[in-house]
Amino acid sequence: MDLSDATQLARALGDLIRDAHQTIDQEQTPELVARVVGHLGCELRHIVNVVERLPGWEHVNLQRGIDSYLTAHGQQGDWFGIAGHGRDHEDIVNMLAGAARGWERYEPGAVDYATAAIGPDETTEVISLGLILAWSPDGAPVVIGLRGAREHTPQCEVVVLAKERPDATRTRDEISRRMREHDVYQGQVLSFEWSEHRGNDLVTFLPRPELDAAQVILPEDVLGTIERHIVEIGEHAVRLRRHGQHLKRGLLLHGPPGTGKTHTVRYLMGRMRGCTVIVMTGTAIRYVTQAAGLARRLQPAIVILEDVDLVARDRSYDEEGNPLLFSLLDAMDGVGADADVTFVLTTNRADVLERALADRPGRVDLAVEIPKPDADGRAALLRLYARDIRLEADLEPIVARTEGATASFFKELVRRAVLSAGPVLTGEHLERALDEMLDERAALTRALLGSGEREPVPFM
Ligand SMILES: Nc1ncnc2c1ncn2[C@@H]1O[C@H](COP(=O)(O)OP(=O)(O)O)[C@@H](O)[C@H]1O
Ligand SMILES: [Mg+2]
Repeated sequence: MDLSDATQLARALGDLIRDAHQTIDQEQTPELVARVVGHLGCELRHIVNVVERLPGWEHVNLQRGIDSYLTAHGQQGDWFGIAGHGRDHEDIVNMLAGAARGWERYEPGAVDYATAAIGPDETTEVISLGLILAWSPDGAPVVIGLRGAREHTPQCEVVVLAKERPDATRTRDEISRRMREHDVYQGQVLSFEWSEHRGNDLVTFLPRPELDAAQVILPEDVLGTIERHIVEIGEHAVRLRRHGQHLKRGLLLHGPPGTGKTHTVRYLMGRMRGCTVIVMTGTAIRYVTQAAGLARRLQPAIVILEDVDLVARDRSYDEEGNPLLFSLLDAMDGVGADADVTFVLTTNRADVLERALADRPGRVDLAVEIPKPDADGRAALLRLYARDIRLEADLEPIVARTEGATASFFKELVRRAVLSAGPVLTGEHLERALDEMLDERAALTRALLGSGEREPVPFM
């Protein structure tokens, strides 16, 4: 072998090694990173990211905000997902970094989808992990990432990647604004619940009850007083606000169980169409702070806190370590006076609440007793619940025998009487059903009190 052969061989080897290096370089920029970096036009380490994390139940709103943003700016790109082991546990930025360093094999993959409710019986698809190449409002390239809540991560998030921070921030801000404009919860009836399964707070949609005033049997003007306070203030919101009057209001409905507190609240919900309603019962009241925030955002709104005496006696504490009753009162305080938000509290035990409410006046500006029905009320209840059957009965004797019974008692009484009746409901059917119910009550009372007394007071 002469010298020129050796030189040629050395050159060829050199070329080979250089080629190999180039190939390795290309292979070392994984496609996922190449796609993002290629779009943004800067190195991965110079990319800034702006992240906004929200409670899991905001996922559908985030999706709507992003969709609206993309549509408004005429950006119809394709979403892509991230394939690779462990993607559930990493955030989007970490996945890119891991892929770039060759530590993890993350690649572009299929988009992950989930379903989210957008009404009492309507759902929609939302992206639970996806990225899209897009542009900021000013036309700078950005990458938008959307992520739903998952195990151990109760929050959803939107991530905006860009070369310059202001581009990412402006994009994020416009998405947030559009998200609020297209809020699925606006004007809906909602309930806050705790999900054991998800380890998460959930918002669910409820159908809006439809009741007319004739279905709510209360003493003269009780319903009128409530409506004037709650509905009319709302109807005059603009004028009241202009004159510096406060809009926020608090209503307490108290009275024995079964007299129609929940029934009245349901009537109000139907009466105030277009108003966002948030219902909380029992320990779900631990979410009162979130609910109050949501109500302020989605006003006009009503926050309904059912059976608050349970909370008042409860020794549970909220996240800040306060008894639930205090977080409830704080949440009521936290909503500004000019907010068109109504808090409706119901309780069987006004006495339990008295102290707490008296100590902090101004939370409840109207307290209304929902009493047991008087004789007229009892007759009206019998007629109401027998409205779909021919009623041919003298109601007088039944009314006389049911002094002290609650409204819900009559609903059950008529149901039983109708069971044994033909097409016509007579006084005899009603009397028999009443005897039966009184006997059962007597037996139950004897069992509970352990006494052998024959004739306990039928109603207390
Ligand atoms: N004042 C009322 N007028 C008509 N129906 C009533 C009334 N009060 C109760 N009811 C009936 O009894 C049921 C139970 O009453 P509810 O409103 O839940 O009682 P409370 O919340 O006061 O314990 C209601 O769903 C309704 O059908
Ligand atoms: Mg109730």
